[in-house]
Amino acid sequence: MEHLVISGKKPLVGKVDISGAKNAAVAIIPAALCVGKVHTIENLPKIEDVRKYIAVLEGMGAKCRFLDDHTLRVDATKVNSGIAMHENLKSMRASYYLIGALLGRFKKAVVPMPGGCNFGSRPIDQHFKGFEALGATVLQEHGAISVTADRLVGTKIYLDVASVGATINIMMAAIYAEGETILENCAKEPHIVDCANFLNMCGANIKGAGTGVLRITGVKASEMKDRDYTIIPDQIEAGTYMIASAITGGDVTVRRVIPKHMEALSAKLTEMGCKVISGDDWIKVQGTAELKSTTVTTLYYPGFPTDLQPQMTALLTQAEGTSYVTETVFENRFQYIDQLSRLGAKVKIEGRMAVIEGSARLTGAEVTATDLRAGACLVVAALAAEGCTVISNVNYIDRGYEKLEEKLTNLGASIRRINDGDPPLVAVEA
Ligand code: EPZ
Repeated sequence: MEHLVISGKKPLVGKVDISGAKNAAVAIIPAALCVGKVHTIENLPKIEDVRKYIAVLEGMGAKCRFLDDHTLRVDATKVNSGIAMHENLKSMRASYYLIGALLGRFKKAVVPMPGGCNFGSRPIDQHFKGFEALGATVLQEHGAISVTADRLVGTKIYLDVASVGATINIMMAAIYAEGETILENCAKEPHIVDCANFLNMCGANIKGAGTGVLRITGVKASEMKDRDYTIIPDQIEAGTYMIASAITGGDVTVRRVIPKHMEALSAKLTEMGCKVISGDDWIKVQGTAELKSTTVTTLYYPGFPTDLQPQMTALLTQAEGTSYVTETVFENRFQYIDQLSRLGAKVKIEGRMAVIEGSARLTGAEVTATDLRAGACLVVAALAAEGCTVISNVNYIDRGYEKLEEKLTNLGASIRRINDGDPPLVAVEA
């Protein structure tokens, strides 16, 4: 098993290039399958979930070839079945996108139940509600989801929850449906817009992405075109480095970002006393020794992203005074608090709210990542802790962060990856 070893209390200084968005990549790769032509996808992040998804497409008969580390050519013309029972799909939440993509293209999808980060129940009833409204039959048996339809007919669908996954999934299922589909109360995240832009470039007719109402007019699959696409930057990776700069009293510029996507975090960091300066495609965050406490409530975009909630909680342990973080998107996304407390954080959970005591003295310890962003939280806290922290379950972190050690080392962090079999730990230079 691999571990990250971090020796903290070093201010991060410098520039870091942000990779393509994980949550856009895991939607656009299956979307390429839905279009079914030849596509070059640029700015793909080099992360585990992308690698796993590509293996799934190849297993289904797609031809995938990397033209460089971040550019993938996908020939999906030879894929002719909606059955995708690849092992990789059981460990990814985003495997559910294959259902909408395959249902849309083949009117049949058989996909394993999704896996992914475990923070409370993560039903996909809204996805099924949309598929059934379009005329499909949904069956769940033996750990797999089977969705079939004789015809897919556009209709009006109202989501009970502004689910990101359901919005993208139903959008893909509807692009060839007869007539118009109106999807109300849908999510507005940047990666939804990114996926809709890709599909529209290929010939789909999707209006309203990024607003609460999507209007999809069915087109003919035969009229879809080979189109190339560049994925947007990852707002959560960018936010993680911005918070890392703030917690270490650093001076970090995140480059190749879309500042508009970062507004909720930039505003909070400014409120806490950091200096945040934005350019066209960069944001500079200068930390401060006197971080002010604040309150954070996670909301759907453009609200404060739930995927930055754990990292923000780590930062707030260093603010002066008590802070409050309310998680409204997921029912139980504070499971990482036990591990954060091992580093010295003092946090109480009251229902969906974390009460964070400020000015906590963080000291290095052995901790375990319980999911992707929980792992990011522990990395951020370890960067501010006195002494050496060892983080296990690094595989979670590898799902969403490309070249984490390299990027942090370039910013002045003392971080390295070790394996269980490596020689005993010599204290990383203090
Ligand atoms: C996507 O998850 C992201 N994952 C998550 O990022 C992100 O936290 C989340 O959106 C919110 O932004 C991917 O894009 C692969 P939801 P998803 O459907 O689609 C409830 C990360 O760290 N719900 O918007 O699963 C659900 O239980 C990951 O990158 C239903 O009740 O999120 C949750 O409480 C973690 N029924 C809420 O809605 C449904 O059918 C939000 O879920 C679907 C969702």
